[in-house]
Amino acid sequence: MAPAPTGGPASADMLRFITCGSVDDGKSTLIGRLLFDAKVIPDDHLTAATRNDHAYRAPGGIPDLALLVDGLQVEREQGITIDVGYRFFATARRRFIIADTPGHEQYTRNMATGASTADVAVILVDARKGVLRQTRRHSAIVALMGIRHVVLAVNKMDLIDYGEARFEEIVATYKPIAEQLSVQSVAALPLSALLGDNVIQPSIAMPWYRGPTLLHHLETVSVELPKTQPFRLAVQCINRDASGFRGYAGTVLGGGIGPGDEVVVLPSGMRGHVERIVTWEGDLAQAVAGQAVTVTLAEPIDIARGDMIAAADQPPQMTDQFAAHLVWMDEAPMLPGRHYLMHLGTAKLTAMVSELKHVLDIDSGQHKAAKQLAMNDIGFANLSLDRAVPFDAYAENRETGSFILIDRVSNATVGAGMIRFPLRRATNLTWQDFTVDKRARAAIKGQQPAVLWFTGLSGAGKSTIADSVERRLHALGRHTYTLDGDNVRHGLNRDLGFTDADRVENIRRVVETARLFADAGLIVLVSFISPFRAERQLARDRVGAEEFIEIFVDTTLAECERRDPKGLYRKARTGQLPNFTGIDSAYEPPPRPELHLRTANHSVEQATDLILETLRQRGIID
Ligand code: ADX
Repeated sequence: MAPAPTGGPASADMLRFITCGSVDDGKSTLIGRLLFDAKVIPDDHLTAATRNDHAYRAPGGIPDLALLVDGLQVEREQGITIDVGYRFFATARRRFIIADTPGHEQYTRNMATGASTADVAVILVDARKGVLRQTRRHSAIVALMGIRHVVLAVNKMDLIDYGEARFEEIVATYKPIAEQLSVQSVAALPLSALLGDNVIQPSIAMPWYRGPTLLHHLETVSVELPKTQPFRLAVQCINRDASGFRGYAGTVLGGGIGPGDEVVVLPSGMRGHVERIVTWEGDLAQAVAGQAVTVTLAEPIDIARGDMIAAADQPPQMTDQFAAHLVWMDEAPMLPGRHYLMHLGTAKLTAMVSELKHVLDIDSGQHKAAKQLAMNDIGFANLSLDRAVPFDAYAENRETGSFILIDRVSNATVGAGMIRFPLRRATNLTWQDFTVDKRARAAIKGQQPAVLWFTGLSGAGKSTIADSVERRLHALGRHTYTLDGDNVRHGLNRDLGFTDADRVENIRRVVETARLFADAGLIVLVSFISPFRAERQLARDRVGAEEFIEIFVDTTLAECERRDPKGLYRKARTGQLPNFTGIDSAYEPPPRPELHLRTANHSVEQATDLILETLRQRGIID
């Protein structure tokens, strides 16, 4: 299966479309007819792309949903399957790329991926069955992914005696659905893919139909983006040479630009003017969407990879929080508060869902409340990023308005998002610097702050060891504070339970609290099960590796159960306590903790000595 060819929006001679429907609707037959009955001109350029996965990757590398499909090549090797087949053909009038995806409803992510690069969707309906649940579902996904032109292909007309009335009835049923989804244009066509009616050849059996055939419609439908789309270029790399040449290479993701035009560079906000547009074939007088170019500016401006160069009079928005639709693609659910890597344009960020607003019930169009997103769910969420980035709403520009999320532990692409609007909250906040800072606060205590992060099963001995370490530190005159799971859950986190989502939020809050305490100049001991690697990684990143000491209190489940200090394992085993860590909720052991304490081999005293020795080595105690 080939990756989706990337590279800008539709042009007059190129159309990308997706076919939606199941085998029963006659989808394969229809695609077969189109491919083999049309006087297809072999398209060498396009066929080459099917042979070489990289051939069609835009040199500028567009990290959008199209790139996602590239990325999925890798994921396929990791056992995650996204089924999107791309087929290529051309007629004398146009070249075509068909994205073909399985129609079953559990394949939302496949359809979303295929639709993300398409200009037109052909939605198949069986004339006998009419508009079904899946027709609504397909239309909803297609609309969500920004497709504005739908072809309602009413197939198997031969099986209903080519009846006009039935056709009109189906069209009338579909109309309000399209309107509700704000689909810009719907072309309804009566077909028989099997017999060839109205696919390539006009149907003799349906003289009442005076519209175009499917192929004619696809050859002529106008899907060009408004000329007003402002210029966007995501900087992929900086080209320099000894002569002093300095060019910014990337793919034009919207609009056009020419020498002399004023641009703004984001996030810095510096302004300048385009001097040259350099390509392998020589300089250009104009660069347009889809082209990979190198731009030089008249002014010496500091530009880095990941920056965006944009039209000065119509700059993109900048924010570190926005609302977006998210298509979840991973077996592991999306948990609000968990940090993911985000690729947006050429920028790489850290992002989390700060609030999951709702999950779409695609069949009814209704919004449902939810705490997490499962695979193939589509949710609407607020996202919070680690810094402000330039972007456009997806409706304005599919390239600069979309992103993918990557799991920080597995490196798999787990979600794809379409940005709807920025959230203004962050723009009215500024960071206040105080004169008495962390250094001053630590200095007055004569110490170096640190975070000792104890992780392990319930009953492993985390709190006992933390208590012993704190006593020793206290005796040495160190200023300390211990954050303990059971204690913090009595106050700050009393609203949280033990679902995966709640544990993620529990740890996120504790990470932030530990950071504040370290900022106060303290040595902080954190004693939480903290079962997930992703959140412990977050702790390390937020605190800073130099101040973070991860201590794995490794006691076997059997031993914890034998001790069972709070009687909780017994309750869990008898089904009175669901989601208990080690029983029916996961514990992911740390792969590389600073200290791995196998409690079977060490007494509390010995464990304490080992930890103090580590602190000594780090210069935290003498
Ligand atoms: S964490 O998983 O979110 O890090 P945390 O350390 O805050 O857990 O809380 C763990 C403590 O809560 C345990 O030591 C135990 O006393 C109590 N507890 C109650 N229910 C559970 C449960 N289902 N799983 C684990 N611990 C539980």
